[in-house]
Amino acid sequence: MNVIEAMKERRSVRTYDGRGLTENQRKAMLQAIAESNSPFGGHLTIRMKKFNLKDGYKPTTYGMIKGAGDFFLLGYGNDDASMLTAGYQFEQVVLKAWENGLGTCWIAATFKGTDFETGEMWPEGEELKIVSPVGVAAKKSMMEKIARFTVGSQKRKPMDELFFFEDFKHAIPEDNRFREALEMMRLAPSSTNSQPWRALVAGNKVHFYAAPKSKLCILDTGIGICHFHETEKYKGTNGEFMHVADAPGGQEGWQYVTTYVAE
Ligand SMILES: Cc1cc2nc3c(=O)[nH]c(=O)nc-3n(C[C@H](O)[C@H](O)[C@H](O)COP(=O)(O)O)c2cc1C
Repeated sequence: MNVIEAMKERRSVRTYDGRGLTENQRKAMLQAIAESNSPFGGHLTIRMKKFNLKDGYKPTTYGMIKGAGDFFLLGYGNDDASMLTAGYQFEQVVLKAWENGLGTCWIAATFKGTDFETGEMWPEGEELKIVSPVGVAAKKSMMEKIARFTVGSQKRKPMDELFFFEDFKHAIPEDNRFREALEMMRLAPSSTNSQPWRALVAGNKVHFYAAPKSKLCILDTGIGICHFHETEKYKGTNGEFMHVADAPGGQEGWQYVTTYVAE
């Protein structure tokens, strides 16, 4: 499976087969962490932690996650760069997991930090903010079905509500060079499926913004930008991210995040 297929097929997995990762799967995930990277700076630490389900200890996810003993733990800083990097970089691991036949679920709210923290020390300025189970998916539990239904996980906003061309009035033309990368961005996961990412295509530049949906909107936008950039890299049409001082202001409340300048 390639990364485009992974972006199209991935969904959050909340019910697992209870068997835990094999040694090879664990190694593949550690390698995915080691290879993940970000151009946005900030401070992020990604770890893996195994809880032995047979010992009966289940870290609390308020019933949301079933049958998973292996988790990723994410510690990061409170600044915008760290949040952008956390989204952009950990989503690479999420996609790599899917390519390896493994499900994950970003969890920012429905977990009890102290259950996961045992013995963990984080670099200064970082703290545990996100966890994600990782493992082989099993049939969805009733709780998982309810969780998906409640936030409308299946749905995404239409392209022309998210992405704009040349000004904030026109939709992205079908044959625009960035169309496919933005289509993949649209499919990305976000907290409560809020999809706060917005973008304006202007010539060879794409300006990215975060709509103020929640305190995770910058992190969510980082996840979306990861999908955008993975598509660019897959197509062999790379570019660079930079801060453009005179980027158009966007719509009310939007926060300018970064600009992609195509080669
Ligand atoms: C940053 C972030 C935080 C999330 N936090 C939670 C959470 O606390 N509990 C949960 O059940 N799902 C959580 N999710 C999963 C989202 O609800 C899910 O990604 C969204 O509904 C889209 O569904 P999909 O991932 O299946 O495409 C989170 C997702 C993201 C990206």
